[in-house]
Amino acid sequence: TNYATILTETRGAVGLITLNRPKALNSLSPELVAEVAKATAVYDADPSIGCIVITGSGQKAFAAGADIKFMADKSYMDMHKQRAYSAEFGAIANVSKPIIAAVNGFCLGGGCEFAMACDFILAADTAKFGQPEITLGTIPGLGGTQRWTRALGKSRAMELVLTGEMITAQEALARGLVARVVPAAELLDDALKTAAKIASHSQPIAALAKTLVNAAFESSLAEGLRLERMLFYSTFSTKDQKIGMKAFIEKQKPEWTNE
Ligand code: HXC
Repeated sequence: TNYATILTETRGAVGLITLNRPKALNSLSPELVAEVAKATAVYDADPSIGCIVITGSGQKAFAAGADIKFMADKSYMDMHKQRAYSAEFGAIANVSKPIIAAVNGFCLGGGCEFAMACDFILAADTAKFGQPEITLGTIPGLGGTQRWTRALGKSRAMELVLTGEMITAQEALARGLVARVVPAAELLDDALKTAAKIASHSQPIAALAKTLVNAAFESSLAEGLRLERMLFYSTFSTKDQKIGMKAFIEKQKPEWTNE
């Protein structure tokens, strides 16, 4: 498939998506968000792909937010009818394969909300995260007020949403917003290596694990524990559980069937 605003390539069992509007700091135009939704769905349906990495082209930005030039003159009804990217974000949330956001440079507004909607974030030491919407006369609209608050707690999330200030990769790491921080020059290699490791596991089993960690943000502890127990039992109905445990006992490498 040919895309106008993203680049896609496969590296072994990893699908790499590069946000590619560098002149606009990879800001999220409707076309870009639609293309990301399409590309993730294509990788999700491709049995040779086990994990997806999303990054930004150029050194300067992962994504500097939703496209301000596109939004500037919109009316309430325009935004309401367009549903402001919510269908595309929903499609990305429905992808069963793990998605890593490899964040280089600015990760702001809708771009930050997009990174937080991925399964986890690996950050370059140059990454900067923030929700500057308030400086534009608007507010986060794709999860910012909710996901920051869950990650950082109320006080710091409130301060950041109200001031529009950015935090460094180091603070994001200290507060658990990102999984790890790596030197910028190593970010993509590290993300691809991490993704390859994830992709070396059974796909349906990885999908269950991802579902459960994400469920921790949407359910009570009791509900989450119940769901985990049921899905844990369900892994014993798969071929791959038999293969994995047999391979361990026989000191062999498992050959997953993804069944
Ligand atoms: C459109 C953008 C953009 C954006 C940058 N550009 N961010 N275009 N939408 N979000 C464009 C600039 O207009 C400029 O184009 C070029 O990219 C380079 O940016 P500069 O500002 O010249 O770079 P610099 O001075 O280094 O500053 C970098 C920056 C700044 C601090 C990241 O660009 C900035 O503050 N960007 C906006 C960040 C923001 O407010 N994001 C939230 C958007 S609202 P030209 O043509 O001049 O070269 C949002 C809502 C989410 O995300 C909810 C959606 C439903």
